[in-house]
Amino acid sequence: MIVLGIETSCDETAAAVVNGDGVIIAENVLSQLEDHRPYGGVVPEVAARAHLEHVDVLIGKTMAKAGLSFHELDAVAATGGPGLIGGVIVGVMTAKAIATACNLPFLAINHMEGHALSARLSKAGKVAFPYLLLLMSGGHCQLLDVEGPGRYKRLGTTIDDALGEAFDKTAKMLGIGYPGGPAVEAAAKQGDAARFALPRPMKGRPGCDFSFSGLKTAVRHVALGLPEGPLQKTDIADLCAGFQAAAGDVLADRISHALDDFLVNHPDGNSLVIAGGVAANQFLRQRLQVLTDQRSIFLIAPPPSLCTDNGAMIAWAAIERIQDMGMEKARDNLNFKPRPRWPLDPDAPTAAFAGAKA
Ligand code: KG4
Ligand code: ZN
Repeated sequence: MIVLGIETSCDETAAAVVNGDGVIIAENVLSQLEDHRPYGGVVPEVAARAHLEHVDVLIGKTMAKAGLSFHELDAVAATGGPGLIGGVIVGVMTAKAIATACNLPFLAINHMEGHALSARLSKAGKVAFPYLLLLMSGGHCQLLDVEGPGRYKRLGTTIDDALGEAFDKTAKMLGIGYPGGPAVEAAAKQGDAARFALPRPMKGRPGCDFSFSGLKTAVRHVALGLPEGPLQKTDIADLCAGFQAAAGDVLADRISHALDDFLVNHPDGNSLVIAGGVAANQFLRQRLQVLTDQRSIFLIAPPPSLCTDNGAMIAWAAIERIQDMGMEKARDNLNFKPRPRWPLDPDAPTAAFAGAKA
């Protein structure tokens, strides 16, 4: 089976051709970083225009690299949400056009499901269901019990900022650029995490929900308390290291609670999978490795290129669904409407302490 996946939900225009064994036959990711840099963050209208400008050429290049014509595909998949709606519309319309022209099945993929299954793409067949998933991206921070494609139970979510969002806002506040995650990680390498006392929001509380906005605000207060004038390089490094250390401690605490719940439902479960852009962070990976070693479970992290947005995870999520339910049930109708919000677990209650995101 060979599927083309298209991703346009945020600031990467991406396409990939993946086969049923999880081999990425060809892929391209075009970052819009330079388009958004002057604004210090993603501008939805700029993103949608950039996707529209580049998606056709990018798909053409990917198909050429794969050495395939559209007629040789078994299906075409695109991110159908959640995300910035202008971009999602571009990807969905493009996939529908290819599907119509070449008489191929079309699949609309939940972007978060793409992240959720990405570890199985990189180690196809080796990461068995069920697993506990920590999905941390620019828009989401969730703990999910993953039983199979389309079968997710949300155990915890953020009650305010997503972790990627907190990284991005912290970086902006410290003036170290965009995107914030990689900038904070790089600055933290030279930093002393113990210099500033930063809070560990939600640590020790019952449940598995997260909160990151207080941590970001605490960084701001510390920065404002430093001597006037531009921040020194060491101050920035120490603040970034402190922020990461606090985030790591909070994640470990919340995961530990989620693991208790997960193991009640799945006594034989033995894996924590991390996914989403923030999962590319090496410091957090090491921090979570300590936790999983303590709890005698495996930590499974896709390679960084599969953590950040890409087309391969969209193609792979489509393949998983097709393999799970068969093409006729898996395919979507061409009247599918892009979904700006699309929770993986529609039955999940609103997070404790309110203000939760989907
Ligand atoms: O999954 P993703 O590429 O896009 C969304 O679906 O949101 O995640 C993007 C987020 C951004 O907030 C970015 O700053 C963060 O992932 N990120 C990182 C790192 N690389 C990307 N955060 C921390 N450390 C990194 N190395
Ligand atoms: Zn993403």
